[in-house]
This record gives sequence, C-alpha cells and structure tokens, in this order.
Amino acid sequence: MQESSTKKIYDVHSVFYDATFGRLVRRRIAQAISHMNIKPRDRVLDLGIGTGVSLNYYPQDRGHIVGVDLSAGMLREARKKIREQGRTNASVFQGDAMRLPFTRDTFDHVFISHVISVVSDPYRLVQEAQRVAKPGARIVIVNHFQSTNRFLALLEKWLCPLCTKLGWRSDLALQDLIRRTGVEVDYRFKLESIDLWETVVMTNTKSALNLGGMGMLAV
Ligand SMILES: C[S@@+](CC[C@H](N)C(=O)[O-])C[C@H]1O[C@@H](n2cnc3c(N)ncnc32)[C@H](O)[C@@H]1O
Repeated sequence: MQESSTKKIYDVHSVFYDATFGRLVRRRIAQAISHMNIKPRDRVLDLGIGTGVSLNYYPQDRGHIVGVDLSAGMLREARKKIREQGRTNASVFQGDAMRLPFTRDTFDHVFISHVISVVSDPYRLVQEAQRVAKPGARIVIVNHFQSTNRFLALLEKWLCPLCTKLGWRSDLALQDLIRRTGVEVDYRFKLESIDLWETVVMTNTKSALNLGGMGMLAV
C-alpha cells in the first residue's frame, strides 16, 4: 500500500467506516485500550486513529490522547466524535505515522489499531512508535496477522491483491515483525477462540531504533 492511494481509499471509507468495519472491531478496540492502564498525566498516541472508534473507549478524565491519520475524511469523523463527546483531553492531526513530528520519549502509550498492515512499511511504523514512546511505555497493536496454518497462510497470500485494493494487506506475519524489529511481546490474546484479529501487548525496549534526523516537535 502506498500512502497516496491509502489516503484516497480511506477518504472514501470514512463515509461508511463506523457502520461497517468500525462496528466489527469496536469491542476489540475497547478491550485493547483496557490493557493500557492510562494514568492522569499520561500521553497516549493513537497511530492511524481513523474515524476515532477508540475515542469511545479512552477515559475522559485522565490521559491526553493525540491521534494521527493520513486521511482528512477519517479525521473529520474523529473530530466530530471529540466535539460530540465534549472531550477536552484529545486532539487529532493529519500526518504520516511513519514520520512523526515528535521528539523521542514523548508518549506513555502507543496504540496501533488495524493500521500496521495498511502502511507501506510496517517495520518503519513500529520503529517510529518505539522512538516516540518512552522507554518502558506500552505499545499495543491490534491487527490481523498471517495464519501459522500453512494452508490458511497460502490463502491469505492469494487474497492479498484483493485486500490491497480495499486498503490493507492480509499477509503480514507477526513472527516477521518480531524478527525484523526485535520487539518483545509481553502477551497477546484474541477476543474469541476463532478470531481474525489479535491484540499484541509490548513494552517499549527501543529495540527497533535507528534514529534519523527528522523534524521534531515536543507536545
Ligand atoms: C483500517 S483503518 C483503522 C482505523 C482505526 N485505528 C480503527 O482501528 O478503527 C486504517 C487507518 O490507518 C490510516 N493510515 C494508513 N496509513 C497511514 C499512515 N502512514 N499514517 C497515518 N495514518 C495512516 C488510514 O487513513 C485509516 O484511517
């Protein structure tokens, strides 16, 4: 997936996202956020926040949530939720989650929900999450990962071109992500025993870092 086409695809998705995919994944998002243990002064970064389904589940009275997304259409929906909820602890901005305008060690939690297989470079996304997260911060990923069953994995590879047209890839293997970024998984779980999506909870060990000179902002 290239970011220019992703933007266009999700601008279109934004119109019906909440009523379709958003409905399907909201319980999973709620459950994942409950594993973050957000404290009053914590900074939370939501990469690829989309229409802000997650905003329905972050606490209103603690933490400051910063959401980033490529798609103006998706962000319009997220801003609507912030207004409707009267939230004073959340803001969103348009940008590329793989090139974040933040200094290192800024966030206490990073949430990456259904985004890692949408970006053109999932390894770079994890590296960027590790850079802006404080050492020991919690990074929580919700995603579909390639099945470890060989037959299903083949099927997922075969379906990948179709999925790419819809806005994601189906053949990202968690083991590859671990191998190529060195991330250490604390634990992972599925909401149902048969579930396409998985929640992966990690502590930031900064293992994937290769810091470059990027323009940085403090929040
Ligand atoms: C499947 S949606 C997930 C939205 C939300 N996180 C959720 O779980 O409901 C994927 C989102 O990632 C965004 N996205 C894809 N690539 C991105 C990038 N490089 N930087 C920021 N956002 C990106 C898309 O615009 C889209 O809103």
